[in-house]
Amino acid sequence: MPGLFSRTPKTTEADAIFDPQGVIPVHVGIIMDGNGRWARARGLPRAAGHRAGTKNIRRVLRESFNIGIKALTVYAFSTENWARPKDEVDHLMRLISQSIQEELDDLDANGVRILHSGRLEGVNPRLQEEIRYAIERTKANDAIVLNVAFNYGGRAEIVDAIKKIMREGYSPDQVTEELVSQHLYTPDLPDPDLIIRTGGEFRLSNFLIWQAAYAEFYSTPVYWPDFDETELRKAVAVFQHRDRRFGKIKDTER
Ligand code: IPE
Ligand code: IPE
Ligand code: MG
Repeated sequence: MPGLFSRTPKTTEADAIFDPQGVIPVHVGIIMDGNGRWARARGLPRAAGHRAGTKNIRRVLRESFNIGIKALTVYAFSTENWARPKDEVDHLMRLISQSIQEELDDLDANGVRILHSGRLEGVNPRLQEEIRYAIERTKANDAIVLNVAFNYGGRAEIVDAIKKIMREGYSPDQVTEELVSQHLYTPDLPDPDLIIRTGGEFRLSNFLIWQAAYAEFYSTPVYWPDFDETELRKAVAVFQHRDRRFGKIKDTER
């Protein structure tokens, strides 16, 4: 019998090396957490953290495109985030609106297709209009998808899907996983392969709870505004070393 500790250790997450030729996740979801703590660590107001965090989306989007990721879903504002102080909520709303105004031309020129996951009801009508316009204007782009999860909750998404299904008159026997998936906010996006959470927590916080059923989860203590190109490659490298079994066993173990 082999000794208890004689097995060769497999590659650990810490020494995973990014392989540009290796498998690249098609759809990556990012829980952009840690803006507030990033600011606090610098003696700045939380708003400064949100500003830096918003700017960081561009850097990570660019690198995602460079390594061949096809879709990025970024969690920008959850249905639970309304419970924050009004000042902070107002600031976050202004930031979303501002970034659409400032970035849309450039995103469009670079072939970025913008999508939105979430509820528009309850959002300022002008911002609703800006979001609809950004989606419409970029709908034919195909370099990469930037799906913004804004006023998004995974449970709300499932409830909204059930409502649509019922309104369309499906009978209980017709309800399948496929049908539910087709009634979510972004039916054309494949399920995420990789979910990254910055800021160190190990939870989904109501993010893509249906779609993430078989996603690989990666959590890093790095705060979102500091999550750069190298950090993204690190996350993908770890993903490349994971063994995705989808409930099956490997052929070599049959
Ligand atoms: C994430 O950063 C951004 C949003 C939730 C809008 P936080 O604001 O949650 O930052 P921390 O978690 O307080 O550091
Ligand atoms: C998750 O971060 C939501 C977004 C990143 C938009 P939170 O900061 O809201 O999550 P919790 O409260 O720590 O679970
Ligand atoms: Mg947080």
